[in-house]
Amino acid sequence: MIEVKKLHSRRWKEYRDLRLEALKSDPIAFSSSFEEEKIFSDEEWKRRINNVLFAISNDKPVGMIGYIINNKNKTKHIANIFGVYVKKEYRRQGIGKKLFDIALKFIQKNVNVFKINLGVNSELKAAIELYKKHGFKIVGRLKKELLVDGKFYDELMMERIL
Ligand SMILES: CC(C)(COP(=O)(O)OP(=O)(O)OC[C@H]1O[C@@H](n2cnc3c(N)ncnc32)[C@H](O)[C@@H]1OP(=O)(O)O)[C@@H](O)C(=O)NCCC(=O)NCCS
Repeated sequence: MIEVKKLHSRRWKEYRDLRLEALKSDPIAFSSSFEEEKIFSDEEWKRRINNVLFAISNDKPVGMIGYIINNKNKTKHIANIFGVYVKKEYRRQGIGKKLFDIALKFIQKNVNVFKINLGVNSELKAAIELYKKHGFKIVGRLKKELLVDGKFYDELMMERIL
């Protein structure tokens, strides 16, 4: 059974380990890198864990999704989803879908949010399919947005109006 929930900040080491695993195993999926984040302070991980929902199996995080709601006056109706990851051995079991469903519920609790956006590497077919299934539409393409190991990648901008 998979449960999706937030984790208390005292469990920051589990978050750190999962995030560093994600950056190492799927470097083209994230704009940040393993080298940049492995040197984060304990406080940084404790702060960041508050924006993340985890898929838990046997009390162990096996997947995650981040979301944040803007706090500027003119853009506080917009939420952003980031850092979506499911451990390789748990993929294709509906966990990504469950993470998304619950994240959307959390975001929609905030009645002032009218739009959700995200960016995704144009080569990540699985992620793009997952996002389309949740009502996200491709609204733009940023060319050569990412440079990983000498190769450029385009980024698709996707959004869903609530
Ligand atoms: C993208 C990712 C989170 C999907 O997680 P998952 O738990 O395997 O996804 P689910 O099992 O819930 O699949 C949901 C839908 O996504 C799509 N999907 C998932 N894996 C797919 C694949 N390998 N190929 C094509 N579509 C796929 C399908 O539409 C699927 O629905 P279906 O099972 O009814 O066909 C996972 O593959 C992953 O962590 N990838 C590496 C990191 C990454 O790309 N993150 C996105 C950063 S923007």
